[in-house]
Amino acid sequence: MRLSGNSVIVTGGAGGLGEATCRALAAAGAAVVVADVADDKGKALADDLGGNATYVKVDVSEPEDITAAIAAAQERGPLRAAVTAHGGYVLAGRIVKKDNSPLELQGFRDTLEPYLTGTYNVMRLAAAAMAASEPEGESGRGVIVTTASIAGYEGQIGQVPYAAAKGGVIAMTLTAARDLAPMGIRVLTIAPGTFFTPAFGMPEEQATEHFGQGIPFPKRMGRPAEYGHLVESMIANDYLNGEVIRIDGAHRFGPR
Ligand SMILES: NC(=O)c1ccc[n+]([C@@H]2O[C@H](COP(=O)([O-])OP(=O)(O)OC[C@H]3O[C@@H](n4cnc5c(N)ncnc54)[C@H](O)[C@@H]3O)[C@@H](O)[C@H]2O)c1
Repeated sequence: MRLSGNSVIVTGGAGGLGEATCRALAAAGAAVVVADVADDKGKALADDLGGNATYVKVDVSEPEDITAAIAAAQERGPLRAAVTAHGGYVLAGRIVKKDNSPLELQGFRDTLEPYLTGTYNVMRLAAAAMAASEPEGESGRGVIVTTASIAGYEGQIGQVPYAAAKGGVIAMTLTAARDLAPMGIRVLTIAPGTFFTPAFGMPEEQATEHFGQGIPFPKRMGRPAEYGHLVESMIANDYLNGEVIRIDGAHRFGPR
């Protein structure tokens, strides 16, 4: 799928992996909608990317917000890619606590809301907009790239809500690709290992010390630009569909 002259939306576009994605796709010539709830960071990024990028406040739970972001994208060119890279609330804790009480229910629902339901919300609305467009020749009408996590395969102790959400994103990939195939829309997912982003709330050296040591090779955390590069190549490669790609330096999470 060609990026130049077409438009894309990136949810969580002001965050670590999202910003790198916006930068990679803008450099490839796409008009980028930075879709996030972080107004200051989102506007600053759009300004930095120049005339072909814009910020739209988007909470992935709100259909109207997503629709507005799609409309802003379509003003700049046909919408050919939607990338979900947003964060959200995560309930952490063992499913039964030390005092034998069960982990709460509402926090589980609150974790699924952005990570799973929000991803579905973006997917359905972006795909509907793409389905109504003229195809880009053999490349079809568009590409959806969602973000899971290797925790969706091997969740660690205390990660049941997050692993459930990310496992759901993984499970949607092939199913949605099958649903959307008649419309010429591809669906792909990235399962990142441990990437250094603001979400870690500490300097890179310290984060690498904590989280980089168990990674086989390269023995460091992932760099957001490596994620952005993968998104760009997944969009560009028309034969890639219905697949989840791990990007993790061969890392497999242990129980803790
Ligand atoms: N960083 C990692 O190591 C890693 C590993 C595996 C998976 N992931 C996944 O990648 C995605 C991005 O992670 P990150 O590290 O870049 O996080 P981040 O915290 O740097 O960025 C997340 C962005 O999402 C935005 N956001 C939060 N709630 C939102 C909502 N309801 N609607 C729209 N935007 C919202 C935030 O404002 C922020 O800009 C997440 O889904 C995360 O689970 C990250």
